[in-house]
Amino acid sequence: MATIDASFTPARPARRTDWLGRAAAFCFLSIAAGQLLFTAFILLFYYPSSLSGDFAAWNSKPLIKGFVAGDTGGNLFFAVHVLMAAVITFGGLVQLVPAIRNRWPAVHRWNGRLYLLSAAMLALGGLWLTWGRGTWMNLTGAVGISLDALLILAFAMLAFRSARARRFAEHRRWALRLFAVASAVWFMRVGYMAWGIATGGAGIGQAMDGPFDLFLAFANSLLPLAVTELYIRAGTRGTPAARKGVAALLAVCGVVILAGSAGAWMMMWSPYL
Ligand code: HEM
Repeated sequence: MATIDASFTPARPARRTDWLGRAAAFCFLSIAAGQLLFTAFILLFYYPSSLSGDFAAWNSKPLIKGFVAGDTGGNLFFAVHVLMAAVITFGGLVQLVPAIRNRWPAVHRWNGRLYLLSAAMLALGGLWLTWGRGTWMNLTGAVGISLDALLILAFAMLAFRSARARRFAEHRRWALRLFAVASAVWFMRVGYMAWGIATGGAGIGQAMDGPFDLFLAFANSLLPLAVTELYIRAGTRGTPAARKGVAALLAVCGVVILAGSAGAWMMMWSPYL
């Protein structure tokens, strides 16, 4: 793991030896730990049932609208969605490991194409599940996750275009933003758990319509995006004080993510395996 650092910072990479680089590496490792747990859950819970056609097994876990008897199209969309969810979650981590990019550029290119394809499929399929199949508990939540889908589609296009044009500093910026918003669904679960641990669930409503639910409906993509933006700016043209400030922020984020990921594994995922 010593090879994971923050050198994906555009233009002026944060060196591993400075605080920004160290904090970014710590934050990335926390994200990697949490996303590997999410990937493990998807592989163990959704893959066997989806690949064997035993779609009814999805409903052993609380879902808004998982398997619905007679809804062949909707069930197939759901199956493709959860199968691609593991691909994007694991694939995003692989893209951010500098050793893989440097030693095996072909892996980075092909995994990058797969990542962009899965991002587009999850965003478009997720929009259909939300609005076409009618899978939502309240309108604010549906609008919030739809905004995330639009951000994923826009950033995926910009990351692809800049890579094709060989504008690599720009490509890294769009790829980091894409990673932030493509991880929103996972951030939301981790955010709920971290908040639950800290406050005992204050502001969470029965129908996910409490103040915290409404905040997280948009914060699941906009908060990681804002932190990513600060990190990009601190890395390229930040003053020493700004770099230290962002380093402290990333360290706090890393701790919150570790706590939230442990909570998600214990409360949301492992009970159903
Ligand atoms: C891009 C990354 C995404 C990942 C990794 C992902 C992952 C998942 C997973 C694992 C589930 C199963 C529910 C669970 O067990 O918690 C799910 C369900 C669902 N997803 Fe996504 N998703 C993503 C993007 C989206 C987007 C952008 C939307 C909406 C625009 C969306 C809409 C939905 C809906 C409506 C369901 C069904 C929820 C239910 O019935 O309870 N997803 N997703």
